[in-house]
Parts: sequence; structure tokens; C-alpha cells
Amino acid sequence: MSNILITGAARGIGNRLAERAIARGDRVFAVVRKRADESRFVASPNLHVIVMDVSDSASVERGFAEVDGLLNGAPLNAVVNSAAISIAGAIELAPVAEYEQTFNTNTLGSLRVLKAAIPRLRGHDGRVVLVTSLWGRASGAMLGAYCASKHAIESLADTARRETAGMNMHVILVEPGVVKTDMLTGQVPDAEALLAKMNAVERTNYGNLYRRYTDVVGKGGNTAISADQCAAAIERAMFAPKPRTRYRIGTDSKIVCFLAWLLPDRWMDGLMGLALNNKPLPRKA
Ligand SMILES: NC(=O)c1ccc[n+]([C@@H]2O[C@H](COP(=O)([O-])OP(=O)(O)OC[C@H]3O[C@@H](n4cnc5c(N)ncnc54)[C@H](OP(=O)(O)O)[C@@H]3O)[C@@H](O)[C@H]2O)c1
Repeated sequence: MSNILITGAARGIGNRLAERAIARGDRVFAVVRKRADESRFVASPNLHVIVMDVSDSASVERGFAEVDGLLNGAPLNAVVNSAAISIAGAIELAPVAEYEQTFNTNTLGSLRVLKAAIPRLRGHDGRVVLVTSLWGRASGAMLGAYCASKHAIESLADTARRETAGMNMHVILVEPGVVKTDMLTGQVPDAEALLAKMNAVERTNYGNLYRRYTDVVGKGGNTAISADQCAAAIERAMFAPKPRTRYRIGTDSKIVCFLAWLLPDRWMDGLMGLALNNKPLPRKA
């Protein structure tokens, strides 16, 4: 039996990880943002629901202190940070506040969890798994805040891995492709609402991009892997006897990350443009 803390456990991938771990007989510290989300779980002696907001340092410290109390000296074996947000929008149009919110939740949230995890995992082969994305290795239109926030987590994990080398613990990155969860399905209505609010100039410059984005993301649901498939892949990374530093989950992630590594920027621009069919505007005379 392992003692595992999972953030983002109320919904999506984090929820599947928590449910699967409880079914396996692991002791699970399921982190939710709202106390009301406790009702999403069937009560189990192996389950402790911890309320923690990863965008708030004091909340993360309180949450981990509560886990320490419950563990009562037993080791924490793994921490998975799955909590994140994704707000779509073009850089020119999206408010800076959305970037602040995304960085505070995704990047600084990962940092807070990582800082709390390291002293609790080292010395006994503990594992911290940071969930990033194929968008932590490549960058796509409409996802500026999300991509930048996930790239930064990749860098933090590389640094933490080098700093903790020899401490008998592992820092592991998982980079899923498209997964069918609320994060994916919420993009379409959100982008449609932004399109509906655009003024005439914005619509001329970005209308096509937003329309194409909703179209591509809507269709993405047809080929996406399930949250359960993603959770199973994360478990393989988490429990590998000698874990790799990063795991690409899904064929789309493997292909896009490889192409982003291989191709010159302009080729990648072309491929990304093709994917969104975002034709350039005619040049002004
Ligand atoms: N879905 C995809 O296509 C995809 C692809 C690649 C990577 N990922 C990554 O996989 C992870 C899980 O995503 P998902 O698809 O499962 O997303 P999701 O269904 O939207 O769930 C996200 C979870 O994060 C929680 N969360 C958000 N902000 C939080 C905060 N400040 N403090 C604590 N919890 C917070 C949410 O809590 P509430 O319920 O309270 O909002 C929710 O439980 C994320 O890191 C995401 O970036 C997803």
C-alpha cells in the first residue's frame, strides 16, 4: 500500500487517479479546492479529502500539515499535481490578469506543491509527478497563458531533479496530449463566448482563428484519450522501478513533442497554422 497525495482530485484526470488508487487499496489524500467536492467520493477508510487551493501558499502549507498529522510518521510515497486551469485567448486580446491567474495556479501551484513534496518524499524513493502537457514542449495559438505556464513547470522540474539528485527521490514530468475532460470540453463554449463579444476590428483580425480553434478543439474530443487511460499511464510513470524524467502520454503528445524538437520554427509555424487553418490576413496596400 502506498500513501499518495493527488491534487485536482475533484474532476478529470486527478479524479480518476484518486478513484483508481482507492480501488487498489492505496491510502489517498485527495486534494479538492472546495469542501463541497467531498461528496464526489464514496467514503472509504483509505480516503482523506484535503481542501487545498494550490494558488495560495498558506493553503498548500495547511493542507500538507494536515496530511502529516494523518500520516502520523508514516512516509508519503507519491505526490501528483494535476490541478490546473486553461483559459483560451489570443495574446493581444486576453487580459494580463488571465495570465496572472494561470501562472499562479499552474506554475506557482506546481512550485508550491513541489516545495512541500521534496522534504516529505526524499530518502525513501518517493515520487513527485508534475502533470504538464504536450503544450509544455510546444506552443499553440490561443493557448499562450497555458503553454507558457506549462513550459515553466518543465523547467522547474528539471531544476528540482538536478538539485535533489542523490536524495533517493524522483521528480517526474508527465506530458499528456488531448484528454477528454472538462478542461477540453469547456474550451469551445468559452472561445465562442469570446468571439461573440469581439468588436469589428478584433473580429477582422482574430475571428477566423477563434472559429477555427473551436472547430479543431471540438473535433479533438473524438480522438482524445479518456481520463482513465491518462491516469493509467501516469501510474506506470509513478510506479516504475526506475522512472524516466518525462513521459509523453498519447500519440498526439509523442508526435507534437518530437516535431517541436526536430523542426525549424518556421516549419512548425506552418504545421500549427495548417492544424488551425489560420490563413494570414491579406496585406494592406
Ligand atoms: N484535458 C486535457 O486535454 C489535458 C491535456 C494535457 C494536460 N492536461 C493536464 O492534466 C491536468 C488535469 O487536467 P484535467 O483535464 O483533469 O482538468 P479538469 O477536469 O479541468 O480538472 C482540473 C482540476 O484542477 C482543480 N484546480 C483548478 N484550480 C485549482 C486550484 N487553484 N487549487 C486546487 N485545485 C485546482 C480543479 O478544481 P475545481 O473542480 O475546484 O475547479 C479540478 O479538479 C492539468 O494539469 C492539465 O493541465 C490536461
